[in-house]
Amino acid sequence: MADNYLEKKMEDLKAAGSGTKTKSHLSLEKLLVRNRSYRGYDNSYVVRPDQLRRIISVATKIPSARNSQLLRFRPVPHEEADKVLPFIRLGGALRDLKLPFEGMEPRAFVVICAATPTPDHYVYIDLGIAAQSMLLQAVEIGLGGICIGAFDKQEVKESLALPYEPLLVVAIGKPKEKIELVEIHEDEDKNYWRDESGTHYVPKIALEELILK
Ligand SMILES: Cc1cc2nc3c(=O)[nH]c(=O)nc-3n(C[C@H](O)[C@H](O)[C@H](O)COP(=O)(O)O)c2cc1C
Repeated sequence: MADNYLEKKMEDLKAAGSGTKTKSHLSLEKLLVRNRSYRGYDNSYVVRPDQLRRIISVATKIPSARNSQLLRFRPVPHEEADKVLPFIRLGGALRDLKLPFEGMEPRAFVVICAATPTPDHYVYIDLGIAAQSMLLQAVEIGLGGICIGAFDKQEVKESLALPYEPLLVVAIGKPKEKIELVEIHEDEDKNYWRDESGTHYVPKIALEELILK
């Protein structure tokens, strides 16, 4: 039993920590770097419904303009993947590769919808915050994903019987791709590319050029 305030505080902190089974060991920097847009997945790994739920749960903790919280999230587990997969387009800048490769398709998704027929500017800002938060959560639990804006909205809405307009599809899976960031100047080509070994390179503008002086 601790007999002074500091020792008591340490005991409390240790006790709180021991209950946290999935404590992350990844810094935000590592999460951000690992959080790449993956277009190839290990199909022997099946994303579980509880993992999708955990990823969606970030939406209960993120900011929202006017706190309106107009986004709704439809988890699409493995068994329902074929209701989304035919309607997404991946890797527009690598047309010749016809991504995703057979057997490496994403097979779990979260479809983010707007619970309003007239989503405004702020709903789209909320959308970006939600999507990135979800992807960081996916990376923290050993998964990865990609935002997909190029999808057939009507087909996805019908095949999933969604009550609202889908705005974005987020694919989730066990990534099976090597992706590296490459620093560039702002006037250089921003298209991603792949080398013969299949490594995917993503150009990012250097910090000094992002900061306005
Ligand atoms: C809103 C949004 C929509 C996107 N839509 C697609 C898409 O439809 N298909 C695709 O292959 N990638 C899509 N991407 C992924 C981008 O291509 C990717 O973020 C970019 O190439 C940089 O790679 P990185 O995410 O690894 O940094 C999208 C990304 C965002 C943020």
